[in-house]
Amino acid sequence: MSRNSVNDCGIIELPRIMGRSGNITAVEPHLNIPFEIERIYYLYDVPGGAERGGHAHKNLRQLIVSASGSFDVILDDGIDKKQITLNRPYSGLLIVPGIWRELSNFSSGAVCLVLASLRYDESDYIRDYGDFLKYVRI
Ligand code: TYD
Repeated sequence: MSRNSVNDCGIIELPRIMGRSGNITAVEPHLNIPFEIERIYYLYDVPGGAERGGHAHKNLRQLIVSASGSFDVILDDGIDKKQITLNRPYSGLLIVPGIWRELSNFSSGAVCLVLASLRYDESDYIRDYGDFLKYVRI
């Protein structure tokens, strides 16, 4: 298995259709993101100081967007770490499989929109950091 690194993750600038009465960003599989979208979910009403994530996925690909407000994402491949602040609805963070992620510093009213390549499947999660290190070091 070739291991993914935090450098395989990164910001995808999404198109903006700007208008006097507001802007639109559209995301289309393969045109803007390198996977089919099987699921969309969003995090909201995150209390101040709360942390989300704290897991990795074996196969899931995701594009994470701050639809409103801001939050930080820490990515970790078991060797390197990278911290990214998401605060624009037209900047998506691509996260590839095999990357531990933690989300924190949610601003009041932040909405974290996630486009995901697979349906929800608990068996795709690695929720223990020790298990994650074993998984990526095989
Ligand atoms: P989890 O992915 O651990 O949330 P986060 O990464 O934001 O901290 O999911 C939290 C709970 O929600 C967990 O019990 C699984 C459930 N869940 C679903 O049922 N379907 C989904 O699509 C997602 C993302 C989570």
